[in-house]
Amino acid sequence: MPYAAFRSIGAYVPQKVLTNEDLTKMVDTSDEWITKRTGIKERRIAAEDEKTSDMGTKAAQIALSRAGIAAEDIDMVVCATISPDYFCMPSTATVIAANLGIKNATAFDISAACTGFIYVLEIAKAFIESKTKKNVLIIGAEKLSAITDYTDRGTCILFGDGAGAAVITATEDKSEAIVDVHTASDGSFGDLLMTPNGGSGSKHDALDKEAAGCYMQMKGNETFKVAVRTLTQDVRDILEANGIQSESIDHFVPHQANYRIIKAVGDALKMREDQVVLTVAKYGNTSGASIPMAINDLYESGELKAGEMMLLDAFGGGLTWGSALVPFAPLK
Ligand code: ACO
Repeated sequence: MPYAAFRSIGAYVPQKVLTNEDLTKMVDTSDEWITKRTGIKERRIAAEDEKTSDMGTKAAQIALSRAGIAAEDIDMVVCATISPDYFCMPSTATVIAANLGIKNATAFDISAACTGFIYVLEIAKAFIESKTKKNVLIIGAEKLSAITDYTDRGTCILFGDGAGAAVITATEDKSEAIVDVHTASDGSFGDLLMTPNGGSGSKHDALDKEAAGCYMQMKGNETFKVAVRTLTQDVRDILEANGIQSESIDHFVPHQANYRIIKAVGDALKMREDQVVLTVAKYGNTSGASIPMAINDLYESGELKAGEMMLLDAFGGGLTWGSALVPFAPLK
């Protein structure tokens, strides 16, 4: 049976920086409140004409070049996004594939909000292990600024734009293999985080009349509590199922939603500070892009070495959640 190996990482962030100070001119908030409640200091905002696929393409180009794999050898492209270029079609994955010159590959998007990257990782692993695909490009890309209500202080302080990508390929070497990926959901909590308008549940002219309903709405405080509880249990489960102690994890890479959530989960799992990867202060919450963007920062800082074990975890709208045990396995 082939195994799936995590070969490379790449990311892209737009140039424009939106600081907490900038937000105080838009809504009734303060740098102190945002910093204390979320740990976020600034986030990146895409240019008006910069699409999710543009950011995903740039991240993917870096991941492909670092993997040393040609675009024509990719046989599947999966993009995690809740802010696709187009409402229904074409998918962002097919746009990215076309931008990269990838032809004839299976390409599709998945919608699992902030857990999106863990979902696409599980999909890549399953397709490779079943011998259906060999070289899979996975992407998390978001232009959340396009679906953020900048009059709602409860959400607009949280979100930012960006993209990350990774190349996952088949290997016969078990020591390189992604150890485990676990994903789950509970749709009964769907109303905690939603964009209520614009889908088949909306009236035909609702898009024009109720633009606000196309923006993200969140019951932040309830989401917070479910997130801490669910993530702690989920990470405990994946570690236990694989007989791995938290202290032996080299890098804990949680979804970057809120420093307080990361700290609460990290403390419950007895993670040391040096194990925990933090980018929330500079990028805010970039949903499906946040984990690959954080892995990319780790890689570019020289702290991610071949063979080191990453523990990923995420939680998001749906509700969805998931975790993964992933050794970094660049091609030799
Ligand atoms: N500035 C100042 N005050 C604010 C702001 C703001 N930006 N936002 C809310 N407040 C006020 C509220 O109105 C409330 O005032 P009140 O007590 O007078 O009613 C008070 O601050 C406390 O509000 P809470 O919502 O209880 O604040 P909380 O400490 O829960 O922090 C936050 C809010 C940051 C949103 C937090 O709940 C959170 O991070 N939740 C989880 C988010 C998350 O993980 N989402 C999942 C992933 S996202 C995705 O999938 C796309």
